[in-house]
Amino acid sequence: MVRRTVIIIKPDAVNRSLIGEILSRFEKKGLKIVGMKLMRFDVNKIDEHYGHHKEKPFFKELSDFMSSIPCVFMVLEGKDAVNVVRKFVGKTNGRDAEPGTIRGDYSMSTQSNVIHANGDENAAKIEIKRFFKDEELINYEKIDFNWLYASSEKSKFEEKD
Ligand code: CMP
Repeated sequence: MVRRTVIIIKPDAVNRSLIGEILSRFEKKGLKIVGMKLMRFDVNKIDEHYGHHKEKPFFKELSDFMSSIPCVFMVLEGKDAVNVVRKFVGKTNGRDAEPGTIRGDYSMSTQSNVIHANGDENAAKIEIKRFFKDEELINYEKIDFNWLYASSEKSKFEEKD
């Protein structure tokens, strides 16, 4: 079970002053922030990251949107983090996303859908490497750990990916 996952808080959310709101949800859930930076999405990285959408009619607008102002890139850690975060984020189209999810609560759009999360564990591994250098990911202990997990959950969690 992969314990780390990347999220990107997109330009619509940065423009709408939603960074704190979104960050706070993950913190309250019990996910640990192990990497975080504000960075403009490099155009070459957009081509790589959204390569599977390159031929789609919306690609140009998506690329302009994602590089318009900086995004917040974050690596979150927790047991089964990829699945937990994916459920938190909700469906791609904000209008279809369930209330209670981040997109369900803050987005009215497919493009401007507030946040990007990893689709699966393989994507998480690739995207962590795409956006973060090893030295930008910080290992540290937080005092909430023993209150977030039962001992049986901790032993599996501590296994390295
Ligand atoms: P994301 O989770 O980052 O993955 C791909 C992104 O492409 C998606 O969120 C949307 O921002 C964008 N996207 C996907 N489908 C469409 C679409 N039909 N029209 C516009 N943007 C889209």
